[in-house]
Amino acid sequence: VIAEPISTANGVQVPSKAYWKRMREICDTHGVLLIADEVINGWGRSGTYFAIEHYDIVPDMVTMAKGLSSGYAPIAAVAVRDSVFEGFKEKGDVALGHLLTFGGQAVACSAALKNIEIFKQENLVQQSAEKGEYLKKQLQELSSHPSVGDVRGLGLMCGVEIVKNKETKEKFGREAQFTKRVSELVNEKGLLTRVWDTIHLAPPFVVTIDEIDRMVAITDEALTQAENEYAAELG
Ligand SMILES: Cc1ncc(COP(=O)(O)O)c(C=O)c1O
Repeated sequence: VIAEPISTANGVQVPSKAYWKRMREICDTHGVLLIADEVINGWGRSGTYFAIEHYDIVPDMVTMAKGLSSGYAPIAAVAVRDSVFEGFKEKGDVALGHLLTFGGQAVACSAALKNIEIFKQENLVQQSAEKGEYLKKQLQELSSHPSVGDVRGLGLMCGVEIVKNKETKEKFGREAQFTKRVSELVNEKGLLTRVWDTIHLAPPFVVTIDEIDRMVAITDEALTQAENEYAAELG
């Protein structure tokens, strides 16, 4: 089983602890490896080094990429349990028994190592946790918008769910004019971000409080304007 601890592209869905506990139990019962896909979630995005740390379970494998070098160099890695590694040891001359054209690329590895050093020096994971809490708190102020169905997130990975009907949580959908208009408006006002069924907000960990306030203000203004223009479609 492979899954993101927090499903990102699907609208920043933050599951309960019970969900991941059950996932672990089911995998154990059936002898299935549990792989946490931390390609987006990992390296501090959720306010801990790895998002699975929020869930008190240990996966068998963890995949990681983007945040490993903060995106500055193309690098990916996988961490595995000792019991999984045993199987790869048989091919001792090839790391993890898997060949890649650019595997073990020295420049990318060097960039990742430096990145990890900076993470520690600048307490970037803690910054993500603290500023993330502030971002979510500010975004919660937008809950009163008629087109906001939910505000959720962990660390600097937050989402504002856009809905057509606040009661039923019926969505507009990614292709709806309303959604496209919100996307256009936030861009015009200086916030470049992904607007699908959910407005995704995941700034760099060095974001300032002023910048967070500006992100929230732009989102607020864009929603108000789109709601006025498409009032007949809401509710
Ligand atoms: C959640 C998730 N998993 C895996 C991948 C693939 O990562 P890579 O391109 O490093 O193989 C992506 C790429 O965007 C991703 O978002």
